[in-house]
Amino acid sequence: MTNIKDKYPGFVTLEDSFALDTETITKYQLGHLNQYRSQIGLDGGLTFNIKKAEGCYLWDSDGNKRLDFIGCVGVYILGHNNPYIIDGVRKYLDQKPMTMDPLALKAQSAAFAHNMSLVTPELTRTVVCGGGGAEANEAVIKMCKIAAGRTKKGKKRIVSTLNSFHGKTNEAVFTGGKDIWQRWLTPPPDHSYVPYGDWHAVEEEFKKDDVIMFIAEPIQGEGGIVVPPDDYLPKIRELCDKYDVYMVLDEVQAGSCRTGYIWAHKYYEGLVPDAFTFAKAISDGVLPVSGVQAKDDLYLAAYGSFESAMNHTATYQDNNMSGAVALLSLTYMLEHDVPGMVREKAKYIWDGLADLQAKYPHILEEVRGRGFMIGLKFNKDESGVGYANAIGKELAVNHLIHTMTSINNDTILRAYPNIWTTKEDFDWFLGALEESFLAVEGK
Ligand SMILES: Cc1ncc(COP(=O)(O)O)c(C=O)c1O
Repeated sequence: MTNIKDKYPGFVTLEDSFALDTETITKYQLGHLNQYRSQIGLDGGLTFNIKKAEGCYLWDSDGNKRLDFIGCVGVYILGHNNPYIIDGVRKYLDQKPMTMDPLALKAQSAAFAHNMSLVTPELTRTVVCGGGGAEANEAVIKMCKIAAGRTKKGKKRIVSTLNSFHGKTNEAVFTGGKDIWQRWLTPPPDHSYVPYGDWHAVEEEFKKDDVIMFIAEPIQGEGGIVVPPDDYLPKIRELCDKYDVYMVLDEVQAGSCRTGYIWAHKYYEGLVPDAFTFAKAISDGVLPVSGVQAKDDLYLAAYGSFESAMNHTATYQDNNMSGAVALLSLTYMLEHDVPGMVREKAKYIWDGLADLQAKYPHILEEVRGRGFMIGLKFNKDESGVGYANAIGKELAVNHLIHTMTSINNDTILRAYPNIWTTKEDFDWFLGALEESFLAVEGK
């Protein structure tokens, strides 16, 4: 065996990496990963060396117990290192499985897809992507385009909403309605944007008779936790039926129980999109897992033939371990009635936030969202700067609580608790928030 440290002095093994100090990690990260992104977190006082994570708590390298109130923007709905999922992954690996092979039968992925069809019986086809939300959105866009190319000849346009976010791969970034992420890129053709929440604008686009798909988030996440009017998505469904357009919902952030419904669109009785995408919380952070859940007719229009069956494959789509993780998360969500748990637990924090809003309306303008997808909309200080960054920093540095601002909007702070969060933790957050208001007010 080669002595790797003789050959590459300074080489770090996994065992060594556990013992790296904060200064060394920072040096490696700034030197070899995304330097400026790392620096933003360090400068903002939001980046810490987290040594351990369990439930809703994080422990940093100084031994501080911190409260995670963001969970990697919606990933950890089932808590960090949920024992059921971790044990399940160990059990899976103990079988010495053949984790992936395009030609093998895939017991865990097949079981996950089968279970998904039980939960959403109108959408019985699953595309598992061993990746993130953007990959799932790319997959659904491609599915709709291929289906339309075969069945809706002449139609080609994709309508999405302004201020939306669907990921940062090339077509996903142009499906999102935030031009800041589109800078320096060349746009793919046939994308149009409408204001979120305005179905009249959607109908005006549909009337042009060239639209193949409409895509939106059930609640805009990156855009600042924007909840549409209650009649919006049901009306979009009607319009999609009337004008023969695929209705797609991006459930990457709002789905997987985050809003108190297994899928956020289940808030609307009887609403069934043609497809929805999922990622983030479906793996509870254990592995990258994402996917598309689609109606039979849409899926088959795209891939329902030997000719087109190979048009959307990817090496890690065949990764059965992602299937196992998704299967474990879904099982846990259903066995523990996580949607009901979120709805019940959320009442306490929403009541507390309503009290704070009534007491400090000049700082906290609005509390919005649903369930554990909470957006705090702040006012701006006298110099026109939103309070969100200052309050996020106060919470992290002085109260050991992790939240996150909405990128490029300094008036929005996102608070995403998870199911392990207790009343005492909510009080920790509410008390810290009030103290942070006083601190920024006094500055
Ligand atoms: C609604 C939505 N769609 C897609 C994405 C992209 O997911 P990923 O970052 O995993 O590619 C995100 C990420 O925040 C999201 O919130």
